[in-house]
Amino acid sequence: MESNEDKLLGSRFIFEGHDTVELAKKYGTPLYVMSYDAIKRSVDKLKASFEKSGLEYSINYAGKAFLNTAMCRIADILGLDLDVVSGGELYTALAAGFDPSRITLHGSNKSQQEITEAIEAGVGTITIDSLYEIDLLNDIAASMGKVVQVHLRLSPGVEAHTHEYVQTGRVDSKFGIPISMGSRAARMAIEKPNLDLKGLHCHIGSQIFNTKPYFIALTGMIEMVYNIKEMGAEIREINLGGGFAINYLADENDFDIDSLFPSVADFLRENAQSLGIKVPKVIVEPGRFIVGKSGITLYTVGTIKEIPYIRKYVSVDGGMADNPRPALYNAVHSAVVANKYDYEPTDLVTISGKCCETDTLIKDILLPPTEPGDILAVMDTGAYNYSMASHYNRLLSPSVVLLSGERDDLIVKRDTYATIIANDVIPEWMGNKQ
Ligand code: LLP
Repeated sequence: MESNEDKLLGSRFIFEGHDTVELAKKYGTPLYVMSYDAIKRSVDKLKASFEKSGLEYSINYAGKAFLNTAMCRIADILGLDLDVVSGGELYTALAAGFDPSRITLHGSNKSQQEITEAIEAGVGTITIDSLYEIDLLNDIAASMGKVVQVHLRLSPGVEAHTHEYVQTGRVDSKFGIPISMGSRAARMAIEKPNLDLKGLHCHIGSQIFNTKPYFIALTGMIEMVYNIKEMGAEIREINLGGGFAINYLADENDFDIDSLFPSVADFLRENAQSLGIKVPKVIVEPGRFIVGKSGITLYTVGTIKEIPYIRKYVSVDGGMADNPRPALYNAVHSAVVANKYDYEPTDLVTISGKCCETDTLIKDILLPPTEPGDILAVMDTGAYNYSMASHYNRLLSPSVVLLSGERDDLIVKRDTYATIIANDVIPEWMGNKQ
């Protein structure tokens, strides 16, 4: 019988200088592969646009896209600040030694414990998401004898062109304070002795291709800066959120990051002058743009099932547990057969995951004829894959490997059966069978 080894001798898919078939052999599959060099290139693009703009700026990496201790170190090395949305993300950042003053705590329903932990750690900014949180945060800060620097998250009522489930900036949303209530919220925050209202925040959604909605949002924000100035307070920072799209498919356009910040600067300078306010520091918090295209997932092909005249199912050893995006958002990813990279794609197939439900990873993709043992590389899985992974069907979460130049290093270990049951407890009354 032909061994797996022989099947893997076809031309190889090289990702960031690394033979993906060798990576699959070395680390096993499913495997998340991230590239430091690719992350750096994305960050460099953001920085170049900001540098051209002449704005004072910072880039807060949105940890929700992909976070673990090594990623916190990468953010630090690349000069990024960090946006966290939970005690767990905060803990991860602190465990990695990330400077708390460069951390922003977000979240639409922060617990008292999360707020207390964040203040205790000395995070630089807490972004207030509701009127309720203005009181809550002030009370907690007062009880700790601290003054906390805050942003108000406003929802500017922008319907950006993106999947409904990832729209967050429209008025009918659980996120932020409707901009129509912005003045009231600002007045409340200004009156609180333990809050220092230094900034305004908005986030209009995710995977947004067009830069226009950012300017619609900015118009509302700058008016609010003016209103707040009239109240006698100065807004020094505007956070425009994240959302910059990446192209998952070859025919999708690139998001025009080069022109965004110079145009934002022109807009702010013009408006600031006419309103008699200072140009604020501009903050963004992209996640997907930084890591999305910097990662791929490697799988091993198993069962192949052909239903004559209907469909050919190619099953892989992962699926919706490591990439829930297709199931949740009908998201589309491209893929290649890593060990048959330059073979003719002649076979129309559906890639199925391993989970006990439909679990379609990719519907109708043209690939070279596949066989069990082939390595499938699913592209652009750096964002919202690892971070949204589940243990559905008690599947083991894959390892994460980081490529950097010629190096490949494990940054997250694969689950084991032991880690899967580590938190299980059998009540005493059921007796012990071990
Ligand atoms: N800031 C805030 C307040 C956010 O809610 C988000 C994303 C970001 C920044 C970063 O957005 P990005 O630059 O990554 O688009 N799981 C979905 C995406 C959910 C986005 C949630 N918020 C997906 O896989 O497409």
